[in-house]
Amino acid sequence: QLNVLHKFKGIFFSTMSSKELLNSLDSFDAREDDVFLVSYPKSGTHWVAEVIGNIPSAKINLTSPIEFGDISKFEELKMYSKRRVIPTHLSYDMLPRNIKQKQCKIVYIVRNPKDVAVSLFHYYRDNPNLPCIETWPAFLELFLRGDVVYGSWFDHVLSWEEHKDNKNILIISYEEMKKDLSKSIKKMTTFLDINVSDSEINKIAWKTSFSEMKSSAAKENHDPNHTICALTSNRNLVFRKGAVGDWINYFTSKQKRVFDELFTQRMKHSELARRFEDYSK
Ligand code: A3P
Repeated sequence: QLNVLHKFKGIFFSTMSSKELLNSLDSFDAREDDVFLVSYPKSGTHWVAEVIGNIPSAKINLTSPIEFGDISKFEELKMYSKRRVIPTHLSYDMLPRNIKQKQCKIVYIVRNPKDVAVSLFHYYRDNPNLPCIETWPAFLELFLRGDVVYGSWFDHVLSWEEHKDNKNILIISYEEMKKDLSKSIKKMTTFLDINVSDSEINKIAWKTSFSEMKSSAAKENHDPNHTICALTSNRNLVFRKGAVGDWINYFTSKQKRVFDELFTQRMKHSELARRFEDYSK
């Protein structure tokens, strides 16, 4: 349990992301048509991956995260012949240089941080690849300090927000997907230049509903080669509640006040933060 995380450049990573791999990220050779699926953990990564994986004419290979594994990772990624869709929880600064130079398409998924905190708390409790944590207040403290895997939510989101006007970056929120999934799917397929009919979109929306995904995860054998999140390949750990606003069941009014103060302070100049105001009152 003690050795499930290690620090790299001041940020916690899973030991399944080797130091050598993290050190050599800049030697990754991106292809112009690569698509990156980026998020802070628990923001809806599996959901968006499932949406993209279900686009009938997409002709893609969904790979494991770029930061997952050891130094042989880049050789492994070379083997894919179709357009690669590569997930990652890296911050903008750590993203391999070549991806930025080639202006690969990037879908960034963002979620209201109070719900992220609650979701990550459960992940810490249920996932053997994360440290043991006793209580919600103890976890929240770590989360607010950024002493959790992949670091501070605030740093992560702000690092990406700085680049939100790049035409190769699409920012999608968990909350907008919950509100109108078909519309979000349309946004993604348009961004990726893939033609999909309205009836196909509705079909994707149905297949990627929370209940469908949760029940198919329960049915399948867990395949260690099919990893969306570098913290587990066991999809049964992923589908918990799938709701907006579950934070209300965990935060005391004092915890909410402390959270809001930090949020206001850190996100003062953030336009993205405005998207969450309705979900965090
Ligand atoms: P909860 O723990 O709040 O339920 P990630 O894929 O980035 O690890 O994010 C996991 C979170 O997304 C979990 O949140 C999970 O339930 C939720 N999620 C996964 N698939 C979903 C879907 N199809 N619809 C809604 N929420 C989904």
